[in-house]
Amino acid sequence: MVSVAILGAAGGIGQPLSLLMKLNAHVTKLNLYDIVNVPGVAADISHVATNSEVKSFLGASKLAEAVTGIDLAIIPAGVPRKPGMTRDDLFKINAGIVKGLIEAIAENSPRAFICIISNPVNSTVPIAAEVLKKRGIYDPKRLFGVTTLDVVRASRFVRDIRPDVDAATLRVPVVGGHSGNTIVPLLSLASTPLDLSETEVAELTKRIQFGGDEVVKAKDGAGSATLSMAYAGARFADSLIRAIKGETIVEPTFIALAADTEGAEQYRQLGAGALEFFAVPVELGPQGVARIVPLNGDVSSGEREAIAVAAEALATNISTGVEFVSP
Ligand code: APR
Repeated sequence: MVSVAILGAAGGIGQPLSLLMKLNAHVTKLNLYDIVNVPGVAADISHVATNSEVKSFLGASKLAEAVTGIDLAIIPAGVPRKPGMTRDDLFKINAGIVKGLIEAIAENSPRAFICIISNPVNSTVPIAAEVLKKRGIYDPKRLFGVTTLDVVRASRFVRDIRPDVDAATLRVPVVGGHSGNTIVPLLSLASTPLDLSETEVAELTKRIQFGGDEVVKAKDGAGSATLSMAYAGARFADSLIRAIKGETIVEPTFIALAADTEGAEQYRQLGAGALEFFAVPVELGPQGVARIVPLNGDVSSGEREAIAVAAEALATNISTGVEFVSP
């Protein structure tokens, strides 16, 4: 019995994500919430022959109901950048949307696991944490920024230059954050040794960090990654749900490096320093984060430098999020 709410379910990410969660056999209740178009999306998806019950919640007056009695909320709500809008304008709008949604979850399902997709994840996760802290219900083990697309891209992009590699099973640890040069793929610690040249490492790293731009360009102004992001979000949610049900699963995610979380110290020494949030591989369990998974070797000097660059940018991103809620 797992009840899931998807907030922003009628969007480019929300629709395929909702469909993928409808196909998830563990999900029994699927609440789809949006401020537009969600009745049609819910009616359509509800015909798929799996056992979960799909319900539609349209508009702010239905938000509280949509997030009552849920185990897990997945949040892809947001607005795309429109002509004339600055990055700062966009940030303020998405930040406000996430803040409002987290307040509703805090009020109605304070123990729900929360997976945030809305960008910029480096700031929206700190926003969520700040809202939950103010209410005294923050549990760092239950709040996640979904960074799965970065490891998905890493595995796939490696296969583009090493066709003998299985993209579905290769795991490349990706640490840091979830945008541009805050994304640090640790190619030297891939689950299969890759024997890459320096040029290949540099090119792959850049491609993984800026992979989203390939999609934005190909869509020619019509949006950013939606289908691959929905796949990544559904994969993370499925891992979390299976962990809630007792399986031990490792996924990367942007989380708090809480003092009492086993394994945080290695990443602090690696360059996360005093940062409150960092993307790390995490072992998931019934309570969310069970422990942070140690790296299986030493990072290269280039990777260490990349972590330092990421950490500096992340410090700003995180404080931007915190200050949005607590100026
Ligand atoms: N509550 C719920 N849903 C909202 C709200 C809100 N306050 N505001 C906007 N939405 C919905 C929109 O109605 C839309 O259906 O969020 C959805 C966003 O969909 P798209 O505009 O298609 O954007 P998408 O490409 O799905 O990206 C969503 O994810 O990767 C990030 O940067 C991306 O932050 C963006 C988000």
